Amino acid sequence: MRITLEQAQKLLKAGNVVGLPTETVYGLAASIRCPKAIAHIFFLKGRPSNNPLIIHVASAQDILSYALTIPDDFHKLAAAFWPGPLTLVLPIIADKIPAIARAGLPTAAFRVPAHDYIQKLLTHSGPLVMPSANLSGKPSATSAAHVENDFGQDFPVVEGGQCTRGMESTILLWKDDRWCIVRLGALASIDFQPVLGYSPVVHEEEIDTPLCPGQLYRHYAPKAKLVLKENISGYDGVVVGFDDRHYPHAERVFSLGNSQCAEEVAQRLYAVLRDLDTYGVKKAYIDMNIPHDGLWATIWERMKKASSCAESNLA
Ligand code: TXA
Ligand code: MG
Repeated sequence: MRITLEQAQKLLKAGNVVGLPTETVYGLAASIRCPKAIAHIFFLKGRPSNNPLIIHVASAQDILSYALTIPDDFHKLAAAFWPGPLTLVLPIIADKIPAIARAGLPTAAFRVPAHDYIQKLLTHSGPLVMPSANLSGKPSATSAAHVENDFGQDFPVVEGGQCTRGMESTILLWKDDRWCIVRLGALASIDFQPVLGYSPVVHEEEIDTPLCPGQLYRHYAPKAKLVLKENISGYDGVVVGFDDRHYPHAERVFSLGNSQCAEEVAQRLYAVLRDLDTYGVKKAYIDMNIPHDGLWATIWERMKKASSCAESNLA
């Protein structure tokens, strides 16, 4: 059910959960002041309680009162990338943020999103806790219709158009005197070079001591079995590929856009994965003849995760 910004503001104030657009993906929002509403987010998504949520704020200034310490280059990163698809994990003053939102961790993740509507809401409503607006484990939502598909036609969501980035924010965490990437996203490692003077390493998640708990879970997966192929020419089933390539044997092609434009592919990826289920596709071959650098690294990571569920193969 589409609602206005004013309705969203009232619902949030009254302790409800609403769907909101951001430039990355749609989010399920609750006020940071309403632990009950935050608990309801975990219930709605079917999200494990040890997977913390990102706190969205109107400006970097709004983070300072929560932070225990401010790591080096925080202000440089904020000035360069906010509002935008960057999330920073900081040590926090524990009693200022409900434990349920941060899964009991001594840190919290913060982001200043770029979408005009959510900027307006944050200015009026204060900080909002907000995971991606999809059922846990499923592809993220990049349109209001995707949110309604997952949570029902009566679920309140603000219509904000198609997300321009289509990929979640990149998450940086301060460790051993450097920032490292704990989740790849709309910003690539190389994008940080001019600001930090180095490209942060992408942290490989460890089960015992995860730096970003969400990375351990099954993610982004449609019901369809996905098979990743770097050479797809001989396959005759359903293909997920590109507008500028030919798949002479394919039974049907779902297009991710132009193979020369990572931004376009990122923007369309979740919608295409969702389309596979809408059309009842049981198995699809994914054309992975794509680069590994820049934003393509994020696309690789998402495709590997989406295809790595029990019933899928990673070729
Ligand atoms: O673009 C985005 O980041 C979107 C939009 C809605 O802002 N949000 C999003 O939220 O992707 P979610 O909940 O789907 O993913 C949040 C990730 C999870 O992997 C979680 O483990 C990690 O952030 N995270 C949250 N708090 C953390 C913390 N204190 N330390 C490490 N990782 C944290
Ligand atoms: Mg998510």
